[in-house]
Amino acid sequence: MKGIILAGGSGTRLYPITHGICKQLMPIYDKPMVYYPLSTLMLAGLREILIITTPRDQERFKQLLGDGSHLGCRFEYVVQDYPRGLADAFVVGADFIGNDKVCLILGDNIFYGSAFGSKLKENTDPDGGIIYAYHTPTPERLAVVEFDENMKVLSIVEKPKVPKSNYGIPGLYFYDNDAIAIAKEAKPSARGELEITELHNGYLKKDKLKVSIMDRGTAWIDPGNFDDVLKASQFVQIIEERQGQKIGCIEEIAWQEGYITDAQLAELAEPLKKSGYGQYLLGLLD
Ligand code: G1P
Repeated sequence: MKGIILAGGSGTRLYPITHGICKQLMPIYDKPMVYYPLSTLMLAGLREILIITTPRDQERFKQLLGDGSHLGCRFEYVVQDYPRGLADAFVVGADFIGNDKVCLILGDNIFYGSAFGSKLKENTDPDGGIIYAYHTPTPERLAVVEFDENMKVLSIVEKPKVPKSNYGIPGLYFYDNDAIAIAKEAKPSARGELEITELHNGYLKKDKLKVSIMDRGTAWIDPGNFDDVLKASQFVQIIEERQGQKIGCIEEIAWQEGYITDAQLAELAEPLKKSGYGQYLLGLLD
């Protein structure tokens, strides 16, 4: 399975910050936002990852993340010249995906939970699509799942005015290779985007969509405005301080997953020592 991080968009709800830096490169406490979704893909065991950016920001992502070899991974980059919607990731990323299965994560989605990586690893060979449903008090801001009385999924509706449940769909999706064909056939919605929800309803019609309820103890943060960005930073800061362990630390995950050796981790840590991030990495080797 290959991974895609969708880090396009103009971040209008974060103007004027996003005039100068894209949303996914803004800091969430002690690291750039994109580290969190990247770490989620790495925890799922994925090492070949495509990063989709705006033309303006591609160079900055390359500066930050390089070709991935320092993390035992392979990163590729492609530009989305216009924000055509989430499902456009499979059109823009078709060559990269080739004949493989694919996991898409949104470049601003932060997940944190116990044994999250091992649960994700169970989804990396889907026959159809596997998505999550997350309990939320504000489902109308998301795609919402409609269940029947036996919790069978009846439909997925994009930002309904009257949501049929409190379960919204987070931006983390696993698909077989059919995702490319379904996305290529999709028509733009009223807001002019190729909606990921259309892809899901396409899979649902073929009875090939699994919707997994995300465990109650799992945090999902999708920082869309100033307050959310601040709260996400506070969340990460509190957990990291209490546990003395970092969230979304891509170097630690590469080392834990066995993608890099002790010596390679020490080499990555060295230039980061002054901020304390490098000290943390070196501490892992003690
Ligand atoms: C997008 C998707 C929606 C999903 C949400 C998760 O919404 O269209 O289905 O629930 O991401 O963050 P958007 O960010 O485009 O409003």
